[in-house]
Amino acid sequence: EVWNPSGKYRVVSTKSMPGTRWINLLVQQDCRVEICTEKKTILSVEDIIALIGNKCDGVIGQLTEDWGETLFSALSKAGGKAFSNMAVGYNNVDVEAATKYGVAVGNTPGVLTETTAELAASLSLAASRRIVEADGFMRAGLYDGWLPHLLKAYGQFLKASGEQPVTWKRASSMDEVLQVADVISLHPILDKTTYHLINKERLSKMKKEAILINCSRGPVVDEEALVEHLKQNPMFRVGLDVFEDEPYMKPGLADMKNAIVVPHIASASKWTREGMVTLAALNVLDCQFRSSKKGRQFS
Ligand code: DGY
Repeated sequence: EVWNPSGKYRVVSTKSMPGTRWINLLVQQDCRVEICTEKKTILSVEDIIALIGNKCDGVIGQLTEDWGETLFSALSKAGGKAFSNMAVGYNNVDVEAATKYGVAVGNTPGVLTETTAELAASLSLAASRRIVEADGFMRAGLYDGWLPHLLKAYGQFLKASGEQPVTWKRASSMDEVLQVADVISLHPILDKTTYHLINKERLSKMKKEAILINCSRGPVVDEEALVEHLKQNPMFRVGLDVFEDEPYMKPGLADMKNAIVVPHIASASKWTREGMVTLAALNVLDCQFRSSKKGRQFS
């Protein structure tokens, strides 16, 4: 799909994205906007090299793409100076390689904070009140009448939500937080320091009835250790929006009644996704214009 075919600057989006505001912003700055309509969910490096072609001023890409040395080299050869990741997380982007090839990188912080917090709270409540399990119970035709013990809640989410939240700062001891928390919601970026931040040892420090939520990146949690922990501790609950080998789940996870799993939808509201893509388009313009001495013109 092509917008403003005669535009001077070629900007490629690797996916079709919501709304048209982002397209208008680019078109107003004399960009020709090309949107990839390929049905494949995840584009390979080769697919993206073909999209970049011989001339490309900037790319808006996705967190599922591997933006490393090969792509930044291709983008730079095509004259590109901007890569804008439509996500706050940028673990899929090798910023050092981008810098080496003179490509500026943008991400979309801020616009998805509330929407993500909303999903984390929804998963916490659903986990505490065993909503998914209860729904499955009904659909399986197992409900044959009210019982005092039927699907009683674990933990005390509402009590916990009345407490002051504790935020773990890197300088303080995480283990102390894990020992006292009723609900632990993970939101770090993924890098070397947060890979398997939650491992077997840390899981064992948590309360037996704690709720663990992950809306950040899958590898922040050692998913194999988590499956084992869920098996050993049936009252421990987990709400996962992200997975270590996304889009796949580690063996056994899907069978756990004490796990709720959803497909990376923390930022999936209309308002938020439109906000993200608008910011992504502004980042392309900002990166491209930044080095120009003549004001808002491509250098
Ligand atoms: C992000 O932006 O990093 C989220 O994971 C996707 O919305």
